[in-house]
Amino acid sequence: SPGTFDGARGLRFAPVAPNTDDKVTVPEGYTQSVVIRWGEPILRGAPAFDPDKQSAKAQAGQFGYNNDFLSLLPLRGERGRQVLVANHEYTDEVLMFKGYDSENPTREQVEIAWAAHGLSVVVVQEEHRSGKLSPVTRHPLNRRLTATTEFELTGPAAGSELLRTGADRSGTTVLGTLNNCAGGTTPWGTILSGEENFNQYFANGSSATDQRYGVGTGATERKWERFDQRFDLKQEPNEVHRFGWVVELDPYDPDSTPAKRTALGRFKHEAAQPRLTDDGRPVVYMGDDERFDYFYKFVSSKRMKKGDSRAAREHNRTLLDEGTLYVAKLTGDSPGQIDGTGKLPNDGEFDGAGVWIPLATGDVSHVPGMTAEEVYVFTRLAGDKVGATKMDRPEDVEPSPRTGRVYVALTNNSNRGKGDNPGADEANPRNLNKHGQVLELAEHWDDPTSEGFSWRLFLVAGDPNDPATYFAGYPKDKVSPISCPDNIAFDPYGNLWLSTDGNALGNHDGLFGVATHGERRGELKQFLTVPTGAETCGPIVQDRRVLVAVQHPGEVDGASVEKPASAWPDGPGKLVRPSVVAVYRKDGRDIGA
Ligand code: FEO
Ligand code: CA
Ligand code: CA
Ligand code: CA
Repeated sequence: SPGTFDGARGLRFAPVAPNTDDKVTVPEGYTQSVVIRWGEPILRGAPAFDPDKQSAKAQAGQFGYNNDFLSLLPLRGERGRQVLVANHEYTDEVLMFKGYDSENPTREQVEIAWAAHGLSVVVVQEEHRSGKLSPVTRHPLNRRLTATTEFELTGPAAGSELLRTGADRSGTTVLGTLNNCAGGTTPWGTILSGEENFNQYFANGSSATDQRYGVGTGATERKWERFDQRFDLKQEPNEVHRFGWVVELDPYDPDSTPAKRTALGRFKHEAAQPRLTDDGRPVVYMGDDERFDYFYKFVSSKRMKKGDSRAAREHNRTLLDEGTLYVAKLTGDSPGQIDGTGKLPNDGEFDGAGVWIPLATGDVSHVPGMTAEEVYVFTRLAGDKVGATKMDRPEDVEPSPRTGRVYVALTNNSNRGKGDNPGADEANPRNLNKHGQVLELAEHWDDPTSEGFSWRLFLVAGDPNDPATYFAGYPKDKVSPISCPDNIAFDPYGNLWLSTDGNALGNHDGLFGVATHGERRGELKQFLTVPTGAETCGPIVQDRRVLVAVQHPGEVDGASVEKPASAWPDGPGKLVRPSVVAVYRKDGRDIGA
């Protein structure tokens, strides 16, 4: 039985060996099932998935493409049911449409792609005494948000000149959300979702700020600008300013208008995870996933109201509109000893101190030469001005619910130390960093509103046989290899779970668990691997099940519907479909117990 394996509580399973199998591989004694696939109908009236008859209307009622972040929320009064929220980051047209002509997409294909982006809310039902979950189609809470759903801009930059367009002279109403990557779940029952690589959807960028955000100067790959002029910045230069925000959605209110919270700044938001202060104010930690970009936090000035009353919910809807936005500056304590190879300094740790530099509070800017509105809309430039620390792609971030320590996945940075780029520093200690690292941050006095913190690297990823790796000091002959940590979650025992994107060790991506405290701190174990071309996303670790979003299976250079690189999940001859998978024990007992 899997119960006999060694490990920290919650991590007692036989590690899965690295592999390149075109399937989801789980530990001995565990099994799996697909919870929901791209294209499965979730709304009333939506048809079953038929790749030969796909339409934008059908897709708007079906589960979207490329599931990334997942959240499971309780559903009171409905036994064995929970509310699943999933992000749909982007579309892979060549894997969605037979004979896709990338030079000449059709209007129907483009509109299907719009409808396949965004988020899904879908109620799921547990199977009795098992970890299996199935969608409850047509549940009244089920909802799709797409690239054309109405969103409200809120907070200090809402209504700004910088956010007004021909279609929205008020600067407060945006159609759609794009490139929703990771996210977070709030203690007041909403979810947060990060708009990440929004730059790729906009053509003909020309301003210096467009350039800082990576917006191209020509046509886009998807060519949406041919079908809606708002994606052409020559026609609508401000439309791109309306993307790159943290979205907040109340999944319990299907009629609510989702919001983009401008107080949290605009960048390539990977994730946003709140922690409450002792007096009930949310503090949200956030990374900007780009090589040499920054790590941020937002401290609300308002306290959460407990309970489910309409008054409490209306109040809590405003929590993320007032407060202070900060960016992190990290300083190592072993100056002169960081040589870019990953060799540990004399004190045995990559560690040091940090400060949170305030950028703006409400209408007040703390950045010389920038107005508060400019700080919110062009947050990267504010970080540049105040000398924030250039990090190795801050991906997901999660405060430990047990200890309050904040964990940040820094996925990789192949340009560190290359050419004119910044070289290694103690928080980003390897040049040409292929495998990434995980940083652990402790706020002074464990107070999330502190303006100072200490930090150390918890993991320096890679093959444990590579001397330039570190597993919190745990013996390296007892850990699994890991590369490119991306998403982060905690299990009920306080263990950290990490999923990977882009394994540079030659094996498929996967999911790992690691103890963060006690004698086994640093004992990293691989729990599963994903199919060819896929990234592991979303992880949720409950008592009885682990949920992962298998994103972009089959996404391999040159692959297409006609020439698939993966046969997952439905076998040869069927379209490859991004899907959510539940993993649980065959004997029905708890995960890793
Ligand atoms: Fe969408 Fe930073 O991964
Ligand atoms: Ca040190
Ligand atoms: Ca990610
Ligand atoms: Ca990633």
